[in-house]
Amino acid sequence: MPAIVIIGAQWGDEGKGKATDLLGSRIDYVVKFNGGNNAGHTVVIGDQKYALHLLPSGILTDGVTPVIGNGVVIDVEVLFHELEALTARGVDVSKLRISANAHVITHYHRTLDKVTERFLGKKQIGTTGRGIGPTYADKINRVGIRIQDLFDEGILRQKVEAALDQKNHLLVKVYNRRAISADEIVESLLSYTERLRPMVGDTALELHEALEAGKTVLFEGGQATMLDVDHGTYPFVTSSNATAGGASTGSGIGPGRIDRVIGIVKAYTTRVGAGPFPTELFDEWGEFLRSNGFEFGTTTGRPRRTGWYDAPIARYSARINGVTDFVMTKLDVLTGLAEIPVCVAYDVDGVRVDEVPVSQSDFHHAVPIYETFPGWNEDISGAREFSDLPKNAQDYVLAIEAMSGARISAIGVGPGREAIVSRYDLID
Ligand code: GDP
Ligand code: IMO
Ligand code: MG
Repeated sequence: MPAIVIIGAQWGDEGKGKATDLLGSRIDYVVKFNGGNNAGHTVVIGDQKYALHLLPSGILTDGVTPVIGNGVVIDVEVLFHELEALTARGVDVSKLRISANAHVITHYHRTLDKVTERFLGKKQIGTTGRGIGPTYADKINRVGIRIQDLFDEGILRQKVEAALDQKNHLLVKVYNRRAISADEIVESLLSYTERLRPMVGDTALELHEALEAGKTVLFEGGQATMLDVDHGTYPFVTSSNATAGGASTGSGIGPGRIDRVIGIVKAYTTRVGAGPFPTELFDEWGEFLRSNGFEFGTTTGRPRRTGWYDAPIARYSARINGVTDFVMTKLDVLTGLAEIPVCVAYDVDGVRVDEVPVSQSDFHHAVPIYETFPGWNEDISGAREFSDLPKNAQDYVLAIEAMSGARISAIGVGPGREAIVSRYDLID
């Protein structure tokens, strides 16, 4: 079972980092294929808590080769900062491989991200401000800087100058900011070249060879299905393909090689940033989920918006990604609720709609139709087998499974690495 993809099935922060870590000892390679340091994965191992942004979570497992694929956008300064912080804590990062084709986030991308958001005012997306959107825009516009450009000063200078030619007009004339000097950018990027050199290569070829040799490769998605630039709630999305197809384009591995797609869902729903969210709660129950689930962003510290589980979204994700297994996280957060509502369909302007509507306006108007399930009060954090869960918790999981389009193979009952109920093997 060599190629496995993990993706977020909602709006991010489902616990992808923990799920990756869970499979850690059984994989040989872990590949980040999309996004950049907009991601925030918290992984808890014993009494140690790690917050990863740019590096794949699998880097925490000894022996695993972490790979940053071509589909990722890299802020080189953040990369070295994260590597140094992990090294200081005793994590071996020496095996990291980086695609020569990955794009580079520079100072002007970060600046443009922030000024564009400010310019949008009330209509802003609520980005993480890390320069993600402008860097992908440059990639698509064919004026991006790639990691390989850092090894050729002449080319790098030409590309930075060409990119800034246009951007400085925008920064100065539209946004009233100071112009950015190409020299500064080039100098700063070149200061990383020698440290980068041994890590950079043809990762698509390396992954191909690993798969041919029977190694197990895990593709770890950042963000999530509903934040995917094609399949999410556009324009309130990130700028990459966070869905399973992105694992192929973002790493250079053919789609036919992928054996399994694991969708991570929370037992309820959260979202950071702006955009539609039908089951969002503005009352004490929303606060209950936020405080019990500690729903504050790993990257920006923003309070996450919270709401009940949305089954049409899970079904949509199952379909878009070809999910074979779900891992449901944070079931423990629901402990203590007398009743748990689950969204089973929407009412859109008086009409019942069973699936996520294709029209963005309809989705904005979608009012959840709920079915309510009885809750439980028992502490479930020590459960390891499905039969250890209280009957009502089992019934909640089974009901959700029936609505969500794929089996629920594992259930998170706490933040720790060991706090998991296993139902079906995720690698076999
Ligand atoms: P990611 O971006 O998908 O990797 O998720 P985040 O790390 O941003 O957010 C998930 C949060 O939930 C982290 O703080 C995890 O430690 C925590 N977490 C993951 N699984 C569970 C679980 O089953 N129960 C509880 N209580 N917390 C969990
Ligand atoms: P992980 O991997 C949750 C959201 C931002 C914003 C939108 C666009 O931890 O699940 P961007 O900076 O990417 O241009 O912002 O996407 N967003 C996330 N929300 N989890 C994430 O990552 C996110 N990465 C981006 O809040 O609404
Ligand atoms: Mg996160």
